[in-house]
Amino acid sequence: MTKTIGENFFLDPRLKEAKKLIQEALKEHQKNITGVKAPNPELKESYDQLLKKMADYRGGALFYNYLGTGIGHGPFVELADGSVKYDFITGIGVHYMGHSHPGVIEAQINGAISNTVMNGHLQQNTDTAKLLELISKEACKYGAEVKNVFLSTSGAMANENGFKMIFQKRYPAARFFSFEKCFSGRTLGMAWVTDKAAYRQGLPKTLDVDYIPFYCESDHEGSIRIAVNAMKKAIHRFPGQHAGFVMELIQGENGSWVGNTEYFEALIKVCQENNISVFIDEVQSFGRTHELFAFQHFKLDKHADIVAIGKNSQVCATLFKDDHKPKPGLMSQTFTGSSSQISAAYYVINEIVTGGYLGKEGKIEKLHQHFKAHLEKLAQKYPEKISGPFGIGAMVAMTVFGGDEAKSKNFTIKLFENGVLSFMAGASPTRVRFLMPVMAVETKHIDEVCAIIEKTLVEMN
Ligand SMILES: Cc1ncc(COP(=O)(O)O)c(C=O)c1O
Repeated sequence: MTKTIGENFFLDPRLKEAKKLIQEALKEHQKNITGVKAPNPELKESYDQLLKKMADYRGGALFYNYLGTGIGHGPFVELADGSVKYDFITGIGVHYMGHSHPGVIEAQINGAISNTVMNGHLQQNTDTAKLLELISKEACKYGAEVKNVFLSTSGAMANENGFKMIFQKRYPAARFFSFEKCFSGRTLGMAWVTDKAAYRQGLPKTLDVDYIPFYCESDHEGSIRIAVNAMKKAIHRFPGQHAGFVMELIQGENGSWVGNTEYFEALIKVCQENNISVFIDEVQSFGRTHELFAFQHFKLDKHADIVAIGKNSQVCATLFKDDHKPKPGLMSQTFTGSSSQISAAYYVINEIVTGGYLGKEGKIEKLHQHFKAHLEKLAQKYPEKISGPFGIGAMVAMTVFGGDEAKSKNFTIKLFENGVLSFMAGASPTRVRFLMPVMAVETKHIDEVCAIIEKTLVEMN
């Protein structure tokens, strides 16, 4: 069959050779990254200056003194002070594959040597078509109908696009439901959906949202009743005015709080009775449960009208049913993602689906059980310092020092200094959470991370 010039270019043996050399060099240098390492005192002065410069130009200091050198090895990342850390937060759930993963590097090279830096809605390469097919087929494999996939560059934008489609379909209904303590992003719209006052302080109101209490495992029946009643009350107060319900099935930013199928079904029933679209926000949960999508894990396939993904997917997207298709003019974007991003997204998603990560016997569950067992032991040993663990799959959290915010912050910073990246989440109680680089982590890494967690707990009073 005739090949295009592009196909011939990408098959050129010189490119193959160049990529082989890059991989060889990478492997050789990665060999030197084998475990946690303290900062090099000789680099302290230059690193401090770099951090100061960064803070000055950025308009504020970084949460962690983290400036990477651009190389890592699986769960390990090297920082510019010469230190090596365990990355168990992965840019808040992005680097699923760990650092400097050879397969991802190769995918990125393929993107980097393609003709443009960015893809956008006027100009997309064949890589995008391949990616959309993969996402669409995987999303619909158990009967969901969200077959249309619209790429975007952030989770917040993927959510905005979903909201726009729902508002247009349900016009003139202009209210939304979301969950108490949910996180939806930081655009002007999403700042009013996210249930955190500090994230919208000083901002003009853009959306009317009614917040429904989230599922409570210790009061299964009660939490369903309370949530359904809260929905009905709001609908009674504002009849016909609710366009959609955005559901974060596992509340990530709140500290890995896990929902429940029966609970979601009860709320979805109220949605169906009142022409309210169901919007599943999977920006954080994508690729972190037994299924690629958390809505598949909770068996809500038939009910999803819109689904947003991000983070692990490397490029963000809004998936939607035919009956939510936007009218011409509502949506378009200069950028859908960089060529490297789109190429890497295909690699990562395909690997999640085919690499033995999913399912009850998959790697995610194995890592979860291992991590959970360790944290349970720590909670038994230091009951005054740690409780939990909480979460599901590759979203694991714990509470330290009773969920006190200042102490939790202090703990994460000390844990970072001792060699492990984690992050705080939620409030009253604050939790400390981990979003592991699933492709790169082995159980021995979890053993080491838990030893560092214990050391840090012991050091703190
Ligand atoms: C559930 C959820 N939705 C939306 C977002 C926003 O994504 P982004 O930060 O890429 O805009 C996040 C980010 O943490 C999230 O966890």
